[in-house]
Amino acid sequence: MNNLILLGSTGSIGSQVLEVIDFIDDNWNIEVLTANKSVDKITEQALKYKPGYVVMTDPKSAEQVRLNLQDQKIKVLSGTKELNEIVKLDNIDLVINGLVGAVGLIPTLNTLNKGVKLGLANKESLVIGGHLVQERLKEYNKGEDILLPIDSEHNAIFRLLKAHEKKELKNIILTASGGPFCHKSYHDLKKVSIKDALNHPNWEMGNKITIDSATMMNKGLEVIEAHWLFDIDYDKIDVVIHPQSIIHSMIELIDHSIYAEMSLPDMKMPIQYVLEYPRVKEGIGQKLNLIKQAKLEFFEPDYKKFECLQLAYQAGRKGGSFPVVLNAANEVAVAKFLEEKIEFLEIPKIIKKALNSHRHIKKPDIETIIEIDSWTREYVEEVV
Ligand SMILES: NC(=O)c1ccc[n+]([C@@H]2O[C@H](COP(=O)([O-])OP(=O)(O)OC[C@H]3O[C@@H](n4cnc5c(N)ncnc54)[C@H](OP(=O)(O)O)[C@@H]3O)[C@@H](O)[C@H]2O)c1
Repeated sequence: MNNLILLGSTGSIGSQVLEVIDFIDDNWNIEVLTANKSVDKITEQALKYKPGYVVMTDPKSAEQVRLNLQDQKIKVLSGTKELNEIVKLDNIDLVINGLVGAVGLIPTLNTLNKGVKLGLANKESLVIGGHLVQERLKEYNKGEDILLPIDSEHNAIFRLLKAHEKKELKNIILTASGGPFCHKSYHDLKKVSIKDALNHPNWEMGNKITIDSATMMNKGLEVIEAHWLFDIDYDKIDVVIHPQSIIHSMIELIDHSIYAEMSLPDMKMPIQYVLEYPRVKEGIGQKLNLIKQAKLEFFEPDYKKFECLQLAYQAGRKGGSFPVVLNAANEVAVAKFLEEKIEFLEIPKIIKKALNSHRHIKKPDIETIIEIDSWTREYVEEVV
């Protein structure tokens, strides 16, 4: 049996991890499930998978889950500290980080510190603490892949790079669906509703990443994620809009050949790849029919319409503490948009204001990252 810790089990990624585990076989023992406030969902999951531990960040929700599971042999823990520490359990084969937001960073670092394999969906970890993650990977350096990306684009590039040497690589090309507003003008974006922004054409995901896809901040965060994951310069990371979401990303070699990874848009495929790694087995996902698909299109992103993408490139290039501010300002601005406190086009304006009000720190340590994250959240609250 392989022991798994699943962080964020009630989310879109977390639920799909459990679906894939149901499909592949019974070789996985789920040792830990975690959530913030989704009491009913985690109770249902705990009754089905019988983990040793459930961690709820929100204390009131933890109380409720404790009551629900009182006749089970499951320890219910509560709080962010417990979430950060739970990945230090012994005899764990894989941690999957499906948390959303900056809260994912410390569990990511603690997992890598322990030398345990990490399936990473939580891109925010790399956006705000990429340099710390990279340090951990260099220290680990046992020649095995300890960090396996779940984000479909990075999973695609990871797979493509397996077949080529780094010195042969010219560029990586991240594809982006363009989200629900791909074909709208900047003017049209002035009056979009929450419902419009949550209506993603190709992917069903959590609310935060769906809004990030509508602003294209998601792609911006992924550019920074790719920079750290593949140790590649920003000038060598391109973004191309590909509305069909069939090509998940591409690599271009120095001889100008381009390799693409293609499949129907379904997160269960990269999740299964990470669970089975390094083997590839019969897939849970549907087969792509190229004849039916017929059309694959590519466009250049409109950086004026999708200002968040531009801000992310700028923050990534400046590095240090700027991506921390970018990420925290975005998290709060997206939450405010979902609470109908700000308009869609105010999201990039607020992020820009926060970035302009921040004094750069070159290589923030974990405490400094936490401080800057809190400062930014307070700053954006005030601005709103
Ligand atoms: N969804 C996708 O298809 C997809 C694709 C690629 C990458 N990703 C990345 O994967 C990550 C997860 O995305 P998602 O769409 O699965 O998000 P989601 O559906 O919102 O789920 C997030 C999970 O994190 C938990 N959580 C939220 N806030 C928390 C906090 N303060 N403390 C502890 N736990 C907390 C949630 O618990 P509750 O249920 O209790 O709120 C839930 O289990 C993100 O970084 C996203 O960018 C997602």
